Amino acid sequence: MIEALTASQRSGVIDGDRRLFVDGDRSGDMLRYVTTNAGKVREAETYLADGTVRQLDFDYAEIQADSLAPIAARGAREAYREAGGPVLVDDAGLFIEALDGFPGPYSSYVETTLGIDRVWEVARDLENRRAAFRCTLAYCDGDDFAATPDPIDRGDRSAAAAAGPARDSDEASAEGSTESATPTNVLPVKLFQGAVPGRIVAPRGDGGFGYDPIFEHDGETLAEMSTAAKNAVSHRGRAFEKFAEWYADR
Ligand code: IMP
Repeated sequence: MIEALTASQRSGVIDGDRRLFVDGDRSGDMLRYVTTNAGKVREAETYLADGTVRQLDFDYAEIQADSLAPIAARGAREAYREAGGPVLVDDAGLFIEALDGFPGPYSSYVETTLGIDRVWEVARDLENRRAAFRCTLAYCDGDDFAATPDPIDRGDRSAAAAAGPARDSDEASAEGSTESATPTNVLPVKLFQGAVPGRIVAPRGDGGFGYDPIFEHDGETLAEMSTAAKNAVSHRGRAFEKFAEWYADR
């Protein structure tokens, strides 16, 4: 179900960074996945308990940053202030190793402007065509979080940057995250990262979307895989696995 917030749903009282809902308004309880893509919500539903997530079509401002975490964290804060209840924002991108992670956080812009065929043309002459899709999920519900291996963005950009993107196979990046002093006026955001390793190849396959035709994992491009097979290996799926495990106890 797609939700666009109405004025009455936004009728909570703002208290600093917290939006306190008036009596009887339970619309703040449900987890809202902030995306324009209904396919992503269906994917999320496969990881979460029935009826816990709904789509929220909300256009948050995307900041420029050289990693996904601060972009997703910022979006989650803005979406939480708008929705007044638990929100989940994702940011994803393709990182080509020999190009220092290009297009990375700019993947969407590059897809729209250059297009994936031109990205393949840039990559085809590279000796090393290893790449990864990465995804960061950012969760905000107005509360603070206990320290765990997953990074927490507390509004200090350096904290998220220090956590860095998830590593491919061992995905050990989160453990080293730092938690800086918490500015009192900033909403804490919990981050979950997933990555899928692969390499850039000439376009193959008709399925999927975005860069799928030029990204090969285990001998197949993501565009050649069934939706179920792609979801089983995808960066977003890996991030969702971590989120769902944590959220089940929240
Ligand atoms: P977003 O953060 O999901 O909007 O994705 C940012 C960019 O990465 C867009 O250009 C997407 O097309 C691309 N992208 C994200 N996830 C995937 C994927 O699973 N396959 C192919 N491209 C993706």
